[in-house]
Amino acid sequence: MLYRKYRPSNFSEFIGQKHVVLTLKNQILQNKIAHAYLFSGPRGTGKTTLARIFAKAINCLNLKENADPCNNCNNCISINKGSFIDFIEIDAASKRGIDEIRDIIEGVKVRPFIGKKKVFVIDECHSLTKEAANAFLKTLEEPPDYVVFILATTEPEKVIPTILSRTQKFQFRFLTSEEIFEKLKKIKENEKINIEDEALKLIAQQANGSLRDAETILDKILNFSNNITREDIENFFGMVKKDFILSFFEALRDKNKKKLLEILNNIYLNGYDLVIFVDEILRFLRGVALVRVNPELKNLVLSDFIPEDFEKIYDILKEIPISDIQNFINIFLESYWQIKREPPILILPLELAILKI
Ligand SMILES: Nc1ncnc2c1ncn2[C@@H]1O[C@H](COP(=O)(O)OP(=O)(O)OP(=O)(O)O)[C@@H](O)[C@H]1O
Ligand SMILES: [Mg+2]
Ligand SMILES: [Zn+2]
Repeated sequence: MLYRKYRPSNFSEFIGQKHVVLTLKNQILQNKIAHAYLFSGPRGTGKTTLARIFAKAINCLNLKENADPCNNCNNCISINKGSFIDFIEIDAASKRGIDEIRDIIEGVKVRPFIGKKKVFVIDECHSLTKEAANAFLKTLEEPPDYVVFILATTEPEKVIPTILSRTQKFQFRFLTSEEIFEKLKKIKENEKINIEDEALKLIAQQANGSLRDAETILDKILNFSNNITREDIENFFGMVKKDFILSFFEALRDKNKKKLLEILNNIYLNGYDLVIFVDEILRFLRGVALVRVNPELKNLVLSDFIPEDFEKIYDILKEIPISDIQNFINIFLESYWQIKREPPILILPLELAILKI
């Protein structure tokens, strides 16, 4: 699995989440490590990975000047192998009860055997039962100074407030498609995969901010072939061909309903996924609207597209009033949700949208 093979092993390989990484590194260099952290944020954005890197940096015997763990000393090696006795990972999704928490509470009483600190990672900590969370509270309040807790969760709103308030909180963000692309490109070079950059960009976009998802998608695609074009990826996702999209936007600019219905039916009959199609349309409309309102956003917006595609569509829409674009977004957004609810005739909400423009 690519996502296992390419799990970053130090801060330098870690992508994005700069605010979190910087603070953690500084704490290590200044020896100001807190006793409890909460890493919260969307799935596949690096919470577990960073918890492991941090635990290694805390215990590394040969820390680098930039706070990276060496990955060479006995402590780093055994953390990497999962055999370090003072690094305890608990998956609260499967071990959520009071007994597991008692084990932690007992474990906290014993000093580290080999490590400088005993690091406990409690993953998916929102899954702990209320009973277990309450039992844990006291330990979390005043742990011995040789203990560090790292709690991770995708759903911080489900963690009880008394636990939240005793942690130093870090919010992880969705990775941008540019950040994801950066890593996919490294994997491509390393694995000597023959894949077009445009194809990688599409994968990065479709991963919706999750690096794990991007790597899993790449894995799946590599099962078919080692020689991958943009078109392969479009087919894989059921994405509508660029030519269709371009002529759709031209007809939209002209409010040519007859043409729009024609293109739409063509797309439908060709078996494309309509949800993905509307998603594409909306992403482009949003991008165009943002750049129209604030041209300084252009680079940011471009990073989410294949630049030539965006430029072409921006050009097509550049004469029409921004109020029209706003209107299109409203109408297509409405039809997006309607399609997702699987109406009796799948294409109907989109046809209706076209009649409304
Ligand atoms: N910021 C990142 N930089 C580099 N690789 C990343 C990053 N985030 C995720 N990955 C990749 O995705 C994989 C999964 O990441 P990780 O397990 O850290 O995610 P997570 O945030 O803990 O997700 P979950 O909430 O599902 O547990 C990693 O093995 C790595 O390959
Ligand atoms: Mg995780
Ligand atoms: Zn080390």
